[in-house]
Amino acid sequence: MQLFLDSADTHEIKFWLGQGVLDGVTTNPSVLARDGVVDVAAALRSLVSLVSPGILHAEVTQECGQALVDEATALHALGENVVVKVPVLTPSGAPCLGEIHELAEAGVRVNATACLSLGQAALAAKAGAAYVSVLVGRIDDEGGDGAEVVVELRRWLDLWGYPTRIVAASLRGAADVRRALAAGAHCVTAPPAALARTSDHKYSRHTVQEFLDAARTSAATL
Ligand code: E4P
Repeated sequence: MQLFLDSADTHEIKFWLGQGVLDGVTTNPSVLARDGVVDVAAALRSLVSLVSPGILHAEVTQECGQALVDEATALHALGENVVVKVPVLTPSGAPCLGEIHELAEAGVRVNATACLSLGQAALAAKAGAAYVSVLVGRIDDEGGDGAEVVVELRRWLDLWGYPTRIVAASLRGAADVRRALAAGAHCVTAPPAALARTSDHKYSRHTVQEFLDAARTSAATL
C-alpha cells in the first residue's frame, strides 16, 4: 500500500517523510493554491527533489487536446518520479481518455483524477492509466458511497488483471482514511490534518501517560 500526502506544504511533507511512512505527495491546482504556492513551476521542481525517491503526482491545467498532452509531457520531464494527473473529463463532459491513452503509450505514468464512479475509473484503466484517483469524499458529499466504489473497483481490476492502482483521495478525516484502507485501495492520499488524526488517539495518549507514571514510581533503572 502506498501512502501519499495530499499537500504542497513543505513543512508537513518533511515532517511526514521523517516519520518513514510517505511514498510521495499528491497535488492539484487547489492544493497548490491552498498552500500558498505562487510560482507553480518552481514549487513542482522543488517538490520533485524533496520527495525523491518517492512519487510526486502533479496535475495538468489544460482542459484537453494537444495542449494537455504537451503540458503532461513537460510535467513528466520534471523527473523520473513524476506521475501526471489528468482529469477523466473536461468541465463540459468530453472524455480525456484519448489523451490518457496517448500519454500512456508514450511512457508517461498517468493518474486519471476526478473519478467519481466505477465506470469512469474502469474506462481510465482501460485507456492505460497507471493510477486512478477516486474522490471518495466528493462521492460521499453527493450521497454516494465512496468506499464502496473503491471496493467494487478493486474487485473489477483484480478480476480482469489490470495493473492500475487505486488512489483513494478527497479524504477529510481519520474515518475516511480508515474506510479507504479497509476498502482495499492500493494507495491512500490524505491531507496533513487527516493523517495527524489517524496517528493520534486520546486513549493511546492516556495509556502511554499511565506507563510513564508507573515507570517514574519504580526505582529500577537499566
Ligand atoms: C488528490 O489527488 C485529490 O485531488 C484531492 O484529494 C481532492 O481533494 P478534495 O476533494 O478535498 O478537494
